[in-house]
Amino acid sequence: MLQIEIGDIIINIKNNILYMERIMVEILTRSEKETEKLGEKLGKLLKPGTIILIKGDLGVGKTVLTRGIARGLGIDEPITSPTFTLLHQYKGRLPLYHFDIYRIGDPEEMYDIGYEEFFYGDGVTVVEWPEKMEWLLPEEYLEIKIERTPLDGQDGRRISIAGKGAQYENLEGELAEDEDTGS
Ligand SMILES: Nc1ncnc2c1ncn2[C@@H]1O[C@H](COP(=O)(O)OP(=O)(O)O)[C@@H](O)[C@H]1O
Ligand SMILES: [Mg+2]
Repeated sequence: MLQIEIGDIIINIKNNILYMERIMVEILTRSEKETEKLGEKLGKLLKPGTIILIKGDLGVGKTVLTRGIARGLGIDEPITSPTFTLLHQYKGRLPLYHFDIYRIGDPEEMYDIGYEEFFYGDGVTVVEWPEKMEWLLPEEYLEIKIERTPLDGQDGRRISIAGKGAQYENLEGELAEDEDTGS
């Protein structure tokens, strides 16, 4: 898949089909706590069957954001990257299936886990490092990209959220409204 970004327009070319998306929400956070808070807000809005792909370099905050999502789903347990097991599961208002496929060697590992049951089940699926297995990603999802950006000398992050598919575009809207009112 080829991905080009021009301003807030993202162009994806996949299987010879061209898709255009617009980044609807872009949020700056200044600390781990703020990133977690954003995840928590998102976690509260999520519906069964949601798939969230989180992209960004090592140590940028993907797991921090996932921890926030878990909190928003009412999960109090410690959240750590499932780096060696590929998947951690938690029980909350909805179940959370947290994948980290950074170290995936053989794609068979995903079939062995039975990933489709999680992706297309009634819980919330979060995937860190979706770039590692683009070919088995769903058609519709919420994509979150985290980048480092210095903010007033602090360790800031630029977090862009883009939905693909009707359900996900609505979610963007809800999150944007929430951010506007600062609630
Ligand atoms: N604004 C911020 N948002 C999220 N994490 C931040 C921020 N500023 C600094 N950090 C630090 O960045 C690290 C992110 O770690 P982690 O979430 O495990 O990264 P990843 O899962 O992307 O590899 C943590 O040590 C956290 O304290
Ligand atoms: Mg991580």
